[in-house]
Amino acid sequence: MRVAMIGTGYVGLVSGACFADFGHAVICVDKDAAKVAALKRGEIPIHEPGLDELVARNAQAERLQFTADLGGAVKDAEAVFIAVGTPSRRGDGHADLTFVHEAAREIARALSGFTVVITKSTVPVGTGDEVERIIRETRPEAEFAVVSNPEFLREGAAIRDFKHPDRIVVGTEDERAREIMTALYRPLYLNRSPVMFTDRRTAELIKYAANAFLATKITFINEIADLAEKVGADVQEVARGIGLDNRIGAKFLHAGPGFGGSCFPKDTVALIKTAQDHAAPLRIVEAVVAANDQRKRAMARKVSSALGGELRGKTIAVLGLTFKPNTDDMREAPSIPLIAALQDMGAKVRAYDPEGIEQARAVLTGVTFCGSAYSCAEGASALVIVTEWEQFRALDFARLKTVMARPVLVDLRNVYQPEEVARHGFAYESVGRGKT
Ligand SMILES: NC(=O)c1ccc[n+]([C@@H]2O[C@H](COP(=O)([O-])OP(=O)(O)OC[C@H]3O[C@@H](n4cnc5c(N)ncnc54)[C@H](O)[C@@H]3O)[C@@H](O)[C@H]2O)c1
Repeated sequence: MRVAMIGTGYVGLVSGACFADFGHAVICVDKDAAKVAALKRGEIPIHEPGLDELVARNAQAERLQFTADLGGAVKDAEAVFIAVGTPSRRGDGHADLTFVHEAAREIARALSGFTVVITKSTVPVGTGDEVERIIRETRPEAEFAVVSNPEFLREGAAIRDFKHPDRIVVGTEDERAREIMTALYRPLYLNRSPVMFTDRRTAELIKYAANAFLATKITFINEIADLAEKVGADVQEVARGIGLDNRIGAKFLHAGPGFGGSCFPKDTVALIKTAQDHAAPLRIVEAVVAANDQRKRAMARKVSSALGGELRGKTIAVLGLTFKPNTDDMREAPSIPLIAALQDMGAKVRAYDPEGIEQARAVLTGVTFCGSAYSCAEGASALVIVTEWEQFRALDFARLKTVMARPVLVDLRNVYQPEEVARHGFAYESVGRGKT
Protein backbone atom coordinates (compact mmCIF):
# COMPACT_ATOMS: atom_id res chain seq x y z
CA MET A 1 0.00 0.00 0.00
CA ARG A 2 1.31 3.48 -0.87
CA VAL A 3 0.68 5.95 1.95
CA ALA A 4 1.13 9.73 2.21
CA MET A 5 1.17 11.12 5.75
CA ILE A 6 0.47 14.86 5.85
CA GLY A 7 1.96 16.44 8.98
CA THR A 8 5.06 15.00 10.61
CA GLY A 9 4.46 15.85 14.27
CA TYR A 10 4.04 13.31 17.10
CA VAL A 11 1.16 11.55 15.42
CA GLY A 12 2.23 11.78 11.78
CA LEU A 13 5.82 10.73 12.36
CA VAL A 14 4.98 7.83 14.66
CA SER A 15 2.10 6.60 12.47
CA GLY A 16 4.14 7.00 9.29
CA ALA A 17 7.11 5.11 10.72
CA CYS A 18 4.87 2.33 12.08
CA PHE A 19 2.98 1.91 8.79
CA ALA A 20 6.36 1.68 7.05
CA ASP A 21 7.40 -0.93 9.59
CA PHE A 22 4.28 -2.92 8.64
CA GLY A 23 5.70 -3.00 5.09
CA HIS A 24 3.79 -0.15 3.45
CA ALA A 25 5.58 2.49 1.33
CA VAL A 26 5.18 5.72 3.28
CA ILE A 27 6.00 9.31 2.39
CA CYS A 28 5.79 11.73 5.30
CA VAL A 29 5.05 15.30 4.28
CA ASP A 30 5.54 18.46 6.27
CA LYS A 31 5.30 22.08 5.23
CA ASP A 32 8.05 22.89 7.71
CA ALA A 33 11.03 22.60 5.36
CA ALA A 34 13.57 22.65 8.23
CA LYS A 35 11.81 19.68 9.86
CA VAL A 36 11.86 17.74 6.59
CA ALA A 37 15.55 18.52 6.04
CA ALA A 38 16.37 17.35 9.58
CA LEU A 39 14.38 14.13 9.12
CA LYS A 40 16.20 13.46 5.87
CA ARG A 41 19.47 13.76 7.78
CA GLY A 42 18.14 11.21 10.26
CA GLU A 43 17.49 13.76 13.03
CA ILE A 44 14.25 13.22 14.97
CA PRO A 45 12.65 16.51 16.03
CA ILE A 46 10.87 15.07 19.09
CA HIS A 47 11.85 12.91 22.03
CA GLU A 48 9.91 9.65 21.77
CA PRO A 49 11.47 6.41 23.01
CA GLY A 50 12.43 4.04 20.16
CA LEU A 51 11.43 6.43 17.38
CA ASP A 52 14.94 7.24 16.11
CA GLU A 53 15.71 3.55 15.61
CA LEU A 54 12.34 2.84 13.95
CA VAL A 55 12.71 5.78 11.56
CA ALA A 56 16.32 4.93 10.72
CA ARG A 57 15.51 1.28 10.02
CA ASN A 58 12.59 2.05 7.71
CA ALA A 59 14.33 4.94 5.96
CA GLN A 60 17.28 2.64 5.33
CA ALA A 61 14.92 0.04 3.81
CA GLU A 62 13.47 2.83 1.63
CA ARG A 63 9.96 2.24 2.95
CA LEU A 64 9.93 5.65 4.67
CA GLN A 65 10.66 8.93 2.94
CA PHE A 66 10.31 12.59 3.81
CA THR A 67 9.32 15.49 1.61
CA ALA A 68 7.91 19.00 1.65
CA ASP A 69 6.23 18.33 -1.71
CA LEU A 70 2.66 17.41 -0.77
CA GLY A 71 1.45 17.15 -4.35
CA GLY A 72 4.16 14.70 -5.34
CA ALA A 73 3.45 12.47 -2.34
CA VAL A 74 -0.34 12.46 -2.79
CA LYS A 75 -0.30 11.83 -6.54
CA ASP A 76 0.88 8.23 -6.18
CA ALA A 77 -0.78 7.37 -2.87
CA GLU A 78 -3.76 5.08 -2.33
CA ALA A 79 -4.19 6.34 1.23
CA VAL A 80 -3.55 9.93 2.36
CA PHE A 81 -3.61 10.63 6.08
CA ILE A 82 -4.20 14.11 7.46
CA ALA A 83 -2.20 14.32 10.71
CA VAL A 84 -1.78 18.09 11.04
CA GLY A 85 -2.30 20.04 14.26
CA THR A 86 -5.76 21.07 15.46
CA PRO A 87 -4.94 23.55 18.23
CA SER A 88 -7.42 25.58 20.25
CA ARG A 89 -8.71 28.54 18.29
CA ARG A 90 -7.70 31.78 19.96
CA GLY A 91 -10.59 33.49 21.62
CA ASP A 92 -13.27 30.81 21.70
CA GLY A 93 -11.66 27.40 22.32
CA HIS A 94 -13.16 25.72 19.24
CA ALA A 95 -10.75 23.42 17.39
CA ASP A 96 -8.84 25.51 14.85
CA LEU A 97 -9.28 23.62 11.59
CA THR A 98 -7.20 25.95 9.43
CA PHE A 99 -4.44 23.36 8.90
CA VAL A 100 -6.92 20.56 8.16
CA HIS A 101 -8.84 22.60 5.60
CA GLU A 102 -5.62 23.84 4.00
CA ALA A 103 -4.33 20.25 3.76
CA ALA A 104 -7.66 19.12 2.23
CA ARG A 105 -7.38 21.77 -0.50
CA GLU A 106 -3.78 20.84 -1.28
CA ILE A 107 -4.62 17.12 -1.32
CA ALA A 108 -7.57 17.73 -3.64
CA ARG A 109 -5.37 19.41 -6.23
CA ALA A 110 -3.02 16.39 -6.36
CA LEU A 111 -5.45 13.44 -6.22
CA SER A 112 -5.18 10.90 -8.99
CA GLY A 113 -7.08 7.63 -9.15
CA PHE A 114 -9.30 6.38 -6.32
CA THR A 115 -7.77 7.64 -3.07
CA VAL A 116 -8.85 7.32 0.53
CA VAL A 117 -8.33 10.55 2.50
CA ILE A 118 -8.15 9.73 6.19
CA THR A 119 -8.43 12.22 9.01
CA LYS A 120 -6.15 11.12 11.83
CA SER A 121 -6.03 14.55 13.45
CA THR A 122 -8.52 14.99 16.27
CA VAL A 123 -11.36 16.91 14.65
CA PRO A 124 -14.88 17.91 15.71
CA VAL A 125 -17.89 15.99 14.48
CA GLY A 126 -18.75 17.04 10.95
CA THR A 127 -15.16 17.82 9.90
CA GLY A 128 -15.11 14.77 7.61
CA ASP A 129 -18.16 16.21 5.82
CA GLU A 130 -16.35 19.52 5.42
CA VAL A 131 -13.14 17.87 4.14
CA GLU A 132 -15.27 15.98 1.61
CA ARG A 133 -16.99 19.22 0.56
CA ILE A 134 -13.66 21.03 0.11
CA ILE A 135 -12.19 18.24 -2.02
CA ARG A 136 -15.36 17.93 -4.10
CA GLU A 137 -15.47 21.71 -4.64
CA THR A 138 -11.78 21.84 -5.66
CA ARG A 139 -11.87 18.71 -7.85
CA PRO A 140 -15.47 17.81 -8.78
CA GLU A 141 -14.34 14.83 -10.87
CA ALA A 142 -11.96 13.26 -8.33
CA GLU A 143 -12.55 9.73 -7.08
CA PHE A 144 -12.09 9.60 -3.33
CA ALA A 145 -13.60 8.71 0.03
CA VAL A 146 -13.07 10.59 3.29
CA VAL A 147 -12.59 8.40 6.36
CA SER A 148 -12.21 9.19 10.06
CA ASN A 149 -9.51 7.18 11.84
CA PRO A 150 -8.76 8.91 15.15
CA GLU A 151 -5.47 8.21 16.87
CA PHE A 152 -5.27 7.11 20.50
CA LEU A 153 -1.50 6.81 20.99
CA ARG A 154 0.08 8.31 24.09
CA GLU A 155 3.27 10.33 23.88
CA GLY A 156 6.08 8.50 25.66
CA ALA A 157 4.63 5.11 24.68
CA ALA A 158 3.57 6.03 21.16
CA ILE A 159 5.13 3.20 19.19
CA ARG A 160 3.83 0.50 21.50
CA ASP A 161 0.39 2.11 21.49
CA PHE A 162 0.33 2.31 17.71
CA LYS A 163 1.41 -1.29 17.26
CA HIS A 164 -0.68 -2.75 20.07
CA PRO A 165 -3.73 -0.53 20.24
CA ASP A 166 -6.70 -1.30 22.51
CA ARG A 167 -8.78 -0.72 19.38
CA ILE A 168 -8.68 0.88 15.95
CA VAL A 169 -11.68 3.02 15.09
CA VAL A 170 -12.55 3.52 11.42
CA GLY A 171 -15.44 5.74 10.41
CA THR A 172 -16.60 5.11 6.86
CA GLU A 173 -19.56 3.75 4.99
CA ASP A 174 -17.67 3.42 1.70
CA GLU A 175 -16.93 -0.19 0.77
CA ARG A 176 -13.73 0.55 -1.20
CA ALA A 177 -12.40 2.69 1.63
CA ARG A 178 -13.15 -0.08 4.08
CA GLU A 179 -11.06 -2.51 2.03
CA ILE A 180 -8.10 -0.13 1.91
CA MET A 181 -8.31 0.55 5.65
CA THR A 182 -8.44 -3.18 6.30
CA ALA A 183 -5.32 -3.71 4.17
CA LEU A 184 -3.48 -0.87 5.94
CA TYR A 185 -4.14 -2.29 9.39
CA ARG A 186 -3.88 -5.98 8.42
CA PRO A 187 -0.72 -6.58 10.52
CA LEU A 188 -2.67 -5.44 13.57
CA TYR A 189 -5.59 -7.76 12.76
CA LEU A 190 -3.07 -10.54 12.99
CA ASN A 191 -2.21 -9.25 16.48
CA ARG A 192 -5.94 -9.43 17.24
CA SER A 193 -6.34 -5.71 17.87
CA PRO A 194 -10.08 -5.05 17.57
CA VAL A 195 -10.98 -2.93 14.55
CA MET A 196 -14.28 -1.15 14.92
CA PHE A 197 -15.96 0.07 11.77
CA THR A 198 -18.61 2.70 12.27
CA ASP A 199 -19.93 5.78 10.53
CA ARG A 200 -17.71 8.84 10.19
CA ARG A 201 -19.45 11.16 12.65
CA THR A 202 -19.53 8.45 15.30
CA ALA A 203 -15.79 7.84 14.86
CA GLU A 204 -15.12 11.57 15.26
CA LEU A 205 -17.17 11.69 18.45
CA ILE A 206 -15.52 8.56 19.89
CA LYS A 207 -12.16 10.33 20.02
CA TYR A 208 -13.47 13.34 21.94
CA ALA A 209 -15.64 11.21 24.23
CA ALA A 210 -12.60 9.04 25.07
CA ASN A 211 -10.38 12.01 25.93
CA ALA A 212 -13.12 13.75 27.90
CA PHE A 213 -13.79 10.57 29.88
CA LEU A 214 -10.10 10.11 30.74
CA ALA A 215 -9.79 13.77 31.73
CA THR A 216 -12.86 13.29 33.93
CA LYS A 217 -11.33 10.28 35.64
CA ILE A 218 -8.16 12.22 36.46
CA THR A 219 -10.08 15.22 37.72
CA PHE A 220 -12.38 13.03 39.79
CA ILE A 221 -9.51 11.45 41.69
CA ASN A 222 -7.85 14.86 42.08
CA GLU A 223 -10.95 16.20 43.80
CA ILE A 224 -11.18 13.05 45.95
CA ALA A 225 -7.51 13.74 46.85
CA ASP A 226 -8.42 17.21 48.12
CA LEU A 227 -11.19 15.71 50.23
CA ALA A 228 -8.88 12.95 51.49
CA GLU A 229 -6.48 15.61 52.77
CA LYS A 230 -9.27 17.31 54.67
CA VAL A 231 -10.71 14.17 56.25
CA GLY A 232 -7.44 12.34 56.95
CA ALA A 233 -7.78 9.59 54.33
CA ASP A 234 -5.22 8.32 51.80
CA VAL A 235 -6.15 8.89 48.16
CA GLN A 236 -3.71 6.20 46.97
CA GLU A 237 -5.67 3.62 48.95
CA VAL A 238 -8.98 5.04 47.78
CA ALA A 239 -7.79 4.80 44.15
CA ARG A 240 -6.71 1.21 44.72
CA GLY A 241 -9.94 0.39 46.48
CA ILE A 242 -12.11 1.70 43.67
CA GLY A 243 -9.75 0.73 40.83
CA LEU A 244 -9.96 -2.96 41.70
CA ASP A 245 -13.61 -2.77 40.73
CA ASN A 246 -13.65 -3.90 37.10
CA ARG A 247 -16.41 -1.45 36.30
CA ILE A 248 -14.05 1.38 37.26
CA GLY A 249 -10.54 0.12 36.43
CA ALA A 250 -7.26 1.24 38.01
CA LYS A 251 -5.88 3.43 35.22
CA PHE A 252 -6.02 7.23 35.22
CA LEU A 253 -6.68 7.28 38.96
CA HIS A 254 -3.38 8.87 40.02
CA ALA A 255 -3.90 12.09 41.92
CA GLY A 256 -1.59 14.90 40.86
CA PRO A 257 -1.25 18.51 39.79
CA GLY A 258 -3.95 18.35 37.09
CA PHE A 259 -3.88 17.18 33.49
CA GLY A 260 -2.05 19.00 30.71
CA GLY A 261 -0.49 18.07 27.40
CA SER A 262 -1.19 18.52 23.74
CA CYS A 263 -4.60 16.80 23.77
CA PHE A 264 -6.79 16.77 26.91
CA PRO A 265 -6.89 20.54 27.52
CA LYS A 266 -7.75 21.50 23.94
CA ASP A 267 -9.98 18.50 23.24
CA THR A 268 -12.15 18.90 26.35
CA VAL A 269 -12.71 22.59 25.55
CA ALA A 270 -13.45 21.87 21.88
CA LEU A 271 -15.97 19.18 22.86
CA ILE A 272 -17.70 21.60 25.24
CA LYS A 273 -17.98 24.12 22.38
CA THR A 274 -19.40 21.56 19.95
CA ALA A 275 -21.92 20.45 22.56
CA GLN A 276 -22.99 24.02 23.31
CA ASP A 277 -23.42 24.72 19.59
CA HIS A 278 -25.78 21.75 19.39
CA ALA A 279 -27.72 22.76 22.50
CA ALA A 280 -26.58 19.60 24.30
CA PRO A 281 -24.22 21.03 26.93
CA LEU A 282 -21.80 18.64 28.62
CA ARG A 283 -21.99 19.88 32.20
CA ILE A 284 -19.66 17.24 33.58
CA VAL A 285 -16.89 18.08 31.10
CA GLU A 286 -17.41 21.80 31.79
CA ALA A 287 -16.85 21.11 35.51
CA VAL A 288 -13.74 19.03 34.71
CA VAL A 289 -12.16 21.87 32.74
CA ALA A 290 -12.92 24.44 35.43
CA ALA A 291 -11.62 22.24 38.27
CA ASN A 292 -8.46 21.37 36.35
CA ASP A 293 -7.73 25.01 35.48
CA GLN A 294 -7.88 26.06 39.13
CA ARG A 295 -5.85 23.12 40.31
CA LYS A 296 -2.49 24.07 38.82
CA ARG A 297 -2.20 27.37 40.68
CA ALA A 298 -3.62 25.69 43.78
CA MET A 299 -0.53 23.46 43.74
CA ALA A 300 1.60 26.58 44.28
CA ARG A 301 -0.36 27.22 47.47
CA LYS A 302 0.57 23.70 48.57
CA VAL A 303 4.25 24.61 48.12
CA SER A 304 3.71 27.84 50.02
CA SER A 305 1.98 26.09 52.93
CA ALA A 306 4.84 23.57 53.14
CA LEU A 307 7.06 26.61 53.84
CA GLY A 308 4.80 28.22 56.40
CA GLY A 309 2.86 30.35 53.92
CA GLU A 310 5.69 32.63 52.77
CA LEU A 311 7.57 32.21 49.49
CA ARG A 312 8.92 35.73 48.95
CA GLY A 313 12.67 35.65 48.33
CA LYS A 314 12.83 31.86 48.72
CA THR A 315 14.28 29.56 46.09
CA ILE A 316 12.09 26.71 44.89
CA ALA A 317 13.55 23.82 42.90
CA VAL A 318 11.20 22.24 40.37
CA LEU A 319 11.89 18.73 39.07
CA GLY A 320 10.12 17.75 35.85
CA LEU A 321 8.70 20.32 33.44
CA THR A 322 7.18 18.35 30.55
CA PHE A 323 3.51 17.47 30.82
CA LYS A 324 4.45 13.87 31.49
CA PRO A 325 7.62 11.73 31.55
CA ASN A 326 9.34 10.36 28.43
CA THR A 327 8.47 13.26 26.19
CA ASP A 328 9.94 16.71 25.58
CA ASP A 329 6.45 18.11 24.96
CA MET A 330 5.71 21.24 27.02
CA ARG A 331 2.28 21.93 25.52
CA GLU A 332 -0.10 22.92 28.36
CA ALA A 333 2.25 21.38 30.93
CA PRO A 334 1.01 21.89 34.52
CA SER A 335 4.51 23.16 35.35
CA ILE A 336 3.84 26.37 33.38
CA PRO A 337 0.98 27.86 35.48
CA LEU A 338 2.48 26.33 38.63
CA ILE A 339 5.83 28.08 38.11
CA ALA A 340 4.09 31.34 37.19
CA ALA A 341 2.11 31.14 40.45
CA LEU A 342 5.30 30.47 42.46
CA GLN A 343 6.91 33.50 40.82
CA ASP A 344 3.80 35.60 41.51
CA MET A 345 4.22 34.71 45.19
CA GLY A 346 7.78 36.06 45.06
CA ALA A 347 9.73 32.81 44.75
CA LYS A 348 12.87 32.36 42.67
CA VAL A 349 12.52 29.20 40.59
CA ARG A 350 15.25 26.78 39.55
CA ALA A 351 14.22 23.89 37.31
CA TYR A 352 15.49 20.67 35.81
CA ASP A 353 13.98 18.28 33.27
CA PRO A 354 15.74 15.32 31.63
CA GLU A 355 14.50 16.10 28.09
CA GLY A 356 12.32 19.19 28.09
CA ILE A 357 14.63 22.10 28.93
CA GLU A 358 15.01 23.31 25.36
CA GLN A 359 11.22 23.42 24.87
CA ALA A 360 10.74 24.85 28.36
CA ARG A 361 13.02 27.82 27.64
CA ALA A 362 10.53 28.94 24.99
CA VAL A 363 7.58 29.06 27.41
CA LEU A 364 9.00 29.89 30.85
CA THR A 365 10.55 33.19 31.87
CA GLY A 366 12.73 34.11 34.83
CA VAL A 367 13.63 30.47 35.57
CA THR A 368 17.19 29.24 36.19
CA PHE A 369 17.59 25.98 34.27
CA CYS A 370 19.94 23.38 35.75
CA GLY A 371 21.77 20.31 34.50
CA SER A 372 20.69 17.79 37.15
CA ALA A 373 18.28 17.27 40.04
CA TYR A 374 21.08 17.97 42.51
CA SER A 375 22.32 21.20 40.99
CA CYS A 376 18.68 22.27 40.77
CA ALA A 377 18.23 21.68 44.51
CA GLU A 378 21.14 23.97 45.44
CA GLY A 379 20.03 26.64 47.89
CA ALA A 380 16.38 25.66 47.58
CA SER A 381 13.93 25.90 50.45
CA ALA A 382 11.75 23.24 48.83
CA LEU A 383 12.12 20.64 46.13
CA VAL A 384 8.94 20.12 44.10
CA ILE A 385 8.40 17.02 41.95
CA VAL A 386 6.03 18.06 39.17
CA THR A 387 6.66 15.36 36.54
CA GLU A 388 7.50 11.83 37.64
CA TRP A 389 10.52 10.98 35.45
CA GLU A 390 12.08 7.64 36.46
CA GLN A 391 15.28 9.35 37.61
CA PHE A 392 13.34 11.22 40.33
CA ARG A 393 12.09 7.97 41.88
CA ALA A 394 15.28 7.18 43.79
CA LEU A 395 16.73 10.54 44.77
CA ASP A 396 19.73 10.60 47.11
CA PHE A 397 18.15 12.40 50.07
CA ALA A 398 21.41 12.66 52.02
CA ARG A 399 23.01 14.47 49.07
CA LEU A 400 19.99 16.71 48.60
CA LYS A 401 20.07 17.66 52.27
CA THR A 402 23.64 18.89 52.00
CA VAL A 403 22.82 21.30 49.14
CA MET A 404 19.34 22.55 50.07
CA ALA A 405 18.59 25.52 52.31
CA ARG A 406 15.82 23.49 53.96
CA PRO A 407 14.94 19.79 53.65
CA VAL A 408 11.40 20.09 52.29
CA LEU A 409 9.94 17.86 49.58
CA VAL A 410 6.66 18.61 47.83
CA ASP A 411 5.78 15.52 45.83
CA LEU A 412 2.93 16.34 43.46
CA ARG A 413 2.99 12.83 41.94
CA ASN A 414 3.04 10.77 45.15
CA VAL A 415 6.27 9.10 44.05
CA TYR A 416 7.49 8.54 47.62
CA GLN A 417 6.12 7.01 50.79
CA PRO A 418 5.74 9.58 53.59
CA GLU A 419 7.59 7.42 56.17
CA GLU A 420 10.55 6.95 53.83
CA VAL A 421 10.97 10.69 53.27
CA ALA A 422 10.51 11.44 56.98
CA ARG A 423 13.24 8.93 57.81
CA HIS A 424 15.67 11.08 55.85
CA GLY A 425 14.72 14.09 57.93
CA PHE A 426 12.69 15.83 55.23
CA ALA A 427 9.37 17.59 55.72
CA TYR A 428 7.02 16.08 53.16
CA GLU A 429 3.89 17.21 51.41
CA SER A 430 2.13 15.08 48.80
CA VAL A 431 -1.29 14.92 47.15
CA GLY A 432 -4.27 13.49 49.00
CA ARG A 433 -2.24 11.96 51.82
CA GLY A 434 -1.94 14.82 54.32
CA LYS A 435 1.28 15.83 56.07
CA THR A 436 3.81 13.78 57.96
N1 LIG B 1 0.24 14.36 20.29
C1 LIG B 1 -0.52 13.34 20.64
O1 LIG B 1 -0.20 12.59 21.56
C2 LIG B 1 -1.80 13.05 19.89
C3 LIG B 1 -2.48 11.86 20.15
C4 LIG B 1 -3.66 11.60 19.45
C5 LIG B 1 -4.14 12.53 18.54
N2 LIG B 1 -3.47 13.70 18.33
C6 LIG B 1 -3.99 14.64 17.33
O2 LIG B 1 -3.21 14.50 16.15
C7 LIG B 1 -3.09 15.77 15.48
C8 LIG B 1 -1.62 16.10 15.30
O3 LIG B 1 -1.03 16.26 16.57
P1 LIG B 1 0.55 16.39 16.77
O4 LIG B 1 0.78 16.46 18.24
O5 LIG B 1 1.20 15.36 15.96
O6 LIG B 1 0.76 17.84 16.10
P2 LIG B 1 2.12 18.62 15.81
O7 LIG B 1 1.79 20.04 15.98
O8 LIG B 1 3.23 18.00 16.60
O9 LIG B 1 2.43 18.33 14.26
C9 LIG B 1 1.67 18.78 13.21
C10 LIG B 1 2.57 18.92 11.98
O10 LIG B 1 1.75 19.20 10.83
C11 LIG B 1 2.47 20.07 9.98
N3 LIG B 1 1.53 20.69 9.03
C12 LIG B 1 0.53 21.55 9.29
N4 LIG B 1 -0.13 21.85 8.15
C13 LIG B 1 0.45 21.16 7.14
C14 LIG B 1 0.22 21.05 5.73
N5 LIG B 1 -0.76 21.71 5.13
N6 LIG B 1 1.03 20.24 5.03
C15 LIG B 1 2.04 19.56 5.63
N7 LIG B 1 2.29 19.63 6.95
C16 LIG B 1 1.51 20.42 7.70
C17 LIG B 1 3.16 21.01 10.92
O11 LIG B 1 4.26 21.65 10.33
C18 LIG B 1 3.57 20.06 12.07
O12 LIG B 1 4.87 19.55 11.87
C19 LIG B 1 -3.86 16.77 16.34
O13 LIG B 1 -5.17 16.86 15.85
C20 LIG B 1 -3.87 16.10 17.70
O14 LIG B 1 -4.98 16.50 18.47
C21 LIG B 1 -2.30 13.97 18.98
